[in-house]
Amino acid sequence: MGARGLSDILAGHAADEAVLAELYDLEHDEITEDLVFYREQARRSTGSIIDLGCGSGRLFNSLMADGRSLVGVDGSAALLARAETRVASDDGLRAARDEGRLELVHGDVRSLRRRDQFGLAVLAGVVAHLDGPEQALRTLEAARALLRTDGRAIVDTIGPGGLPPRDLPLSVDWEREMGDRHVVRRSTLVRRETPEGLRVEYSTLTDLLGTDGTIARLPAGFRLWYPSVRALIGLAGEAQFTVEASFGSHDLDPPDDRSERCILVLRPAR
Ligand SMILES: C[S@@+](CC[C@H](N)C(=O)[O-])C[C@H]1O[C@@H](n2cnc3c(N)ncnc32)[C@H](O)[C@@H]1O
Repeated sequence: MGARGLSDILAGHAADEAVLAELYDLEHDEITEDLVFYREQARRSTGSIIDLGCGSGRLFNSLMADGRSLVGVDGSAALLARAETRVASDDGLRAARDEGRLELVHGDVRSLRRRDQFGLAVLAGVVAHLDGPEQALRTLEAARALLRTDGRAIVDTIGPGGLPPRDLPLSVDWEREMGDRHVVRRSTLVRRETPEGLRVEYSTLTDLLGTDGTIARLPAGFRLWYPSVRALIGLAGEAQFTVEASFGSHDLDPPDDRSERCILVLRPAR
C-alpha cells in the first residue's frame, strides 16, 4: 500500500499485494452496471476529469469515451500497476496515454494538490475506505480544491439497501478460476452501527489452489465505513459543496431507504 494508514482491500501481507490486486480485478471488472452512468456524467461535463481512487482503471474507458483527458489517482501501487497493464493492453487508452491525455498518479486522495483544475472529479467506491467523517471531509475539501468553479464532483457509495444487514460468520463468497489456479474466497464480517453510519470489519481468506495440489492461503483484513446519506450530505456542505442531484441507483432512481447506492452530484458552492 502506498499511502500510509489506508484501510485497504489489499491490506494483506506486502508480498501478496500483486496477487490480491489481480484478485481485486477478477472481482471488480465484473461490475459494469455503472459504466453508462459514468459515460453520461463525463459527457455532460467539460474539461479534464480526475478519477480519485481509480483502482485499476475500471472506469477509464467510460470516462474518456469522447476523447477527454483524465488523471487517475490511487494510493495502491499494486492497483496502479494493474491500471498500467490495462492501459498498455487497450488501444484507445494507450493512444490517450501517448497523446498525453491520460496520467496515472500514485497519491492520497485525502491530501492531493495539483496546479491544474478539473471539470469532473469522481469518487467511486472510495468513501467507504476512508476511516470516518474526518477523513471524508478532508477528501471532499481536496476534491473541491481540484475543481473549476463550474465543475462537478460525484460521490458514489453503497446505499442503505446495499449494506450487510447482519454479522456474517465465516462463509464462502465465491469460487473462480484465475489463470490455471482455482480461487476460493471466504470472509467474515462484523458490523457496528454508529451515529455517522455503519462500520464493518471484514476478514477474508483467499485460497489459491494450484494444478499441483498446493494451496496458498492469503489472509487480509480491512475496515469499511458506510456513511448515512444524511452524514454524507452534511460533510459535502462542510466542504463547501451544494448537492445538485442525488440518486439511489446508477439508473437515476430517486434515493430512498432501500436504495442500493448513494450517489451525490456536487457543485462548488458560490
Ligand atoms: C473499491 S475501489 C474503487 C476503484 C474504482 N473507483 C472503481 O470504481 O472501480 C477503492 C479504491 O480507493 C483507493 N483508495 C482508498 N483510500 C485511498 C486514499 N486515501 N488515497 C488514494 N486511494 C485510495 C483504493 O486503493 C482502491 O483502489
